[in-house]
Amino acid sequence: MSSVSQAQSIPILSAPLDAIDTDLLLIPWFEEKGLENFGELDQATGGELARALASREFVARPFDLFITPLVNRAWKARRVLFIGGGREEAFTPDLARKTAVAAALAARQRRTSSVTLLVRPGGRAPSGDVDVAGFFQSAAEGLTLAEFDGGSYKTDEGRIGPAPRLALAIRHVPDSSPESIARLEGAVARGRMLGECSNLARELANEPGNTLTPREFADRASNIVSSGGAAVEILDEKQIEALGMGLLMGVARGSSEPPRLMVFRHEPAGAAPGGPVLGLVGKGITFDTGGISIKPADGMDRMKDDMAGGAAVACAMRAIAMLGAPIRVIGVVPTTENMPGGRAVKPGDILKSAEGKTVEVLNTDAEGRLILGDGLWYARKLGATHLVDVATLTGAIVVALGKLTTGIFGTPDWWVEHVRRVGDRAGDRMWPLPIYDEYFDQLKSEIADFTNTGGRPGGAITAALFLKEFTGGLPWVHLDIAGTAWAEESRPYAPKGATGVAVRTLAELPFTSAAWK
Ligand code: BES
Ligand code: MN
Ligand code: ZN
Repeated sequence: MSSVSQAQSIPILSAPLDAIDTDLLLIPWFEEKGLENFGELDQATGGELARALASREFVARPFDLFITPLVNRAWKARRVLFIGGGREEAFTPDLARKTAVAAALAARQRRTSSVTLLVRPGGRAPSGDVDVAGFFQSAAEGLTLAEFDGGSYKTDEGRIGPAPRLALAIRHVPDSSPESIARLEGAVARGRMLGECSNLARELANEPGNTLTPREFADRASNIVSSGGAAVEILDEKQIEALGMGLLMGVARGSSEPPRLMVFRHEPAGAAPGGPVLGLVGKGITFDTGGISIKPADGMDRMKDDMAGGAAVACAMRAIAMLGAPIRVIGVVPTTENMPGGRAVKPGDILKSAEGKTVEVLNTDAEGRLILGDGLWYARKLGATHLVDVATLTGAIVVALGKLTTGIFGTPDWWVEHVRRVGDRAGDRMWPLPIYDEYFDQLKSEIADFTNTGGRPGGAITAALFLKEFTGGLPWVHLDIAGTAWAEESRPYAPKGATGVAVRTLAELPFTSAAWK
């Protein structure tokens, strides 16, 4: 089994800017700011920076770019790229991450061989302190995210240049003790790892349905996770059947590709026996045709990314193991195609879940909640005490929140709010929607315990309430990433295609267990 290649680490340089030997210096710049202590740099550009600021050619709104040569031969760097960061007090680690991606992507387009990004910690935390390590981590995440290559099946040379050699620089180290430098290096290594694992998830989600079948998905994910150091078990259709997973088996019936159930385990030696166990469950539909309730042709190709939640769980498990999370974590990814074959589940059919509950399938296109129902039950069976599921679950969430914000649902409120905050810091924005019991009336069935569709009103909410039936009353969060897993338009900080959403949130979560109830 080949292991996943690991990127080179990103060094932190503390030499003066003129001594940094790099093809392109990347410098974040803030709105309404004069040259301040960048006078020498301006002189090295022959006064181009001051001129561009004075003429307002460059005003440093987020992602504005200004690139100019360094004409002073005493400087080791060849050129400098200024990237707008907006107002300094509003420059958060999240914006630092995005500007790092945008600057490094611009550098690639210019075919640079090496770049060095100056880390400029911005806005103050409520405490008044600046989270310098947080800015280093997000800078490393951003540079790494910019290394992602989407078009891996293009036989001609891609549009964008190869990834340049990376370095980070800092001008004023608030505390230059070896411990403080080691802390920043740790933050950079962590950011590098989280960026790499996000990129692995993007690569999986970009992969088309013909190459990434359920078996291939399970193979690749087990490679990614086991080479990271977590335990992997792949259950085949016989084992899935034996566990009584009628929902997963029901969805898989329409396909000639057999389903798989991936199980990942991170079990650190120091974890307290009665301590919390995080259960991560991801939707792994490698292609969603809708089944017998078939989708319209327009845009159906998008449904190759219907396993983005499963990819996020697998790639987060790698990060969790590599970074040595202090608690036990279990990952469960049910994977199958949703196809309209001759043996496919039909509208009106009744399936029995491993939990024992029966489901009347009114729409075979509401398949994600079916396979997740069995997945959530299995995570509980394996000992999870706190659950998070991630799924490209509903078109309704795209209508409600658009493409920039993940829908977050769950219970109790503290757990939802906790995951939301971790997500905010990780750059995965989320917004809560309610799951009042009354909505469950929409899932009433005449002949089974409940149906799998609640109609159009509140479609993302009734989907969440369906999942809640399988959580056994444990603290549980559901992330609906149908809008956020895939970028339809490229942005300065993200190309079109898979985004790697939720990987960093899931990976950071087990490190926050001290705050759990
Ligand atoms: N995979 C889709 C949800 C989806 C839609 C993801 C758009 C990404 C973009 C899911 O399986 C689905 O088809 N959901 C249905 C549910 C409905 C039949 C109750 C939907 O949202 O239309
Ligand atoms: Mn569907
Ligand atoms: Zn689906």
